[in-house]
Amino acid sequence: MNDGLNRAKRGAEMNELPFIENGAIAVTDGEISYIGTSEEAKTIIADEVIDCKGKLVTPGLVDPHTHLVFGGSREHEVSLKQQGVSYLDILKQGGGILSTVRETRKTSEQSLINKGLFHLDRLMSYGITTLEAKSGYGLDKDTELKQLRVIKELNKQHAMDLVPTFLGAHAIPEEYKQNSDAFLQEMLNLLPEIKYEHLAEFVDIFCETGVFTVEQSRQFLQKAKEEGFQVKIHADEIDPLGGTEMAAEVGAISAEHLVGASDYGIEKLAASNTIAVLLPGTTFYLGKDKFARARDMIDQGAAVTISTDFNPGSSPTENIHLIMNLAMLKLKMTPEEIWNAVTTNAAYAINRGDKAGKLMVGREADIVLWDADNYHYVPYHYGVNHVQRVFKGGKQIY
Ligand code: NIG
Ligand code: FE
Repeated sequence: MNDGLNRAKRGAEMNELPFIENGAIAVTDGEISYIGTSEEAKTIIADEVIDCKGKLVTPGLVDPHTHLVFGGSREHEVSLKQQGVSYLDILKQGGGILSTVRETRKTSEQSLINKGLFHLDRLMSYGITTLEAKSGYGLDKDTELKQLRVIKELNKQHAMDLVPTFLGAHAIPEEYKQNSDAFLQEMLNLLPEIKYEHLAEFVDIFCETGVFTVEQSRQFLQKAKEEGFQVKIHADEIDPLGGTEMAAEVGAISAEHLVGASDYGIEKLAASNTIAVLLPGTTFYLGKDKFARARDMIDQGAAVTISTDFNPGSSPTENIHLIMNLAMLKLKMTPEEIWNAVTTNAAYAINRGDKAGKLMVGREADIVLWDADNYHYVPYHYGVNHVQRVFKGGKQIY
């Protein structure tokens, strides 16, 4: 619903969830034409009435961070992990992201589209109607562009609204092992073409030990901004390098992961307009016990959202309800903060705050009807899908 803000909710605002008891929504030509009480709605003459009595109704959810398009999968790495080999060591040995790069390079555009459609159906079954999708499993010109074109095609073929991000700087490919600066330059050289073909709205980089340093990331993102892109960053996911404060300094629209963010990083983040995208499913799946400090971030006034981080390595799940549960148990977020996180704040993190994440007259009717009679129930009852029906632009698509 309309909260009167035209920006992400931050700090204590995240605990305010506008809510109507016994509400009703009217949809005309795919747009919301009325939202208010059922009592007032009685005068509306409708062709079709859907009885939602006793059910929770929310905006379509927004997932602001996915690695949707990739070849293959990585179940073969599970036993390595069980033997204690870390995520970054698997990457160092040429596995992890680099194993998905090899698969993605040899997978045809059509197979990637088919695979993408399959995952999108599943993401949508959990109530997601808008999501961000990153490239980053090509690490060469042809495959990065192939991934971005697949995202564009998926946006046409599927009811989901997709927002594309160029993550060419996701790892150092074997070919550039000794010269990561030259690799970053090669990725920067793609930006004019990506811009010209409208293949991405954001540019992202993985700032991590053994991948790109804080200084490399800062320079890369600054150059991307000069080329006219908004920027995002995978920061402080595993090692606390200081990517959180750098994200705030370069004016990133969002900073993702932030598990190792320092006190200083959180202070800078809270004083900035950068939105924290927290990914508790990834921390859980990497087998760590230290989760991102969502409480400190929100209590100091930051804007926070959460996401599946759907990808084949660190978070192979489309289940955003499980992520909401982890946000409650591990990030200690309140139900109100969690719902604001997966709706309006997620939309602002991908520059869709004026389109998605709120139920408002004049907006596209992206609506979820839940098998729950109150909003506390969804993050509480874990591991299952709570969605009964999903409407995109007023049309039932699940
Ligand atoms: O957000 N950390 C970098 N990127 C992804 C994982 C990608 C992968 O392992 O394939 C993430 O966790
Ligand atoms: Fe990610």
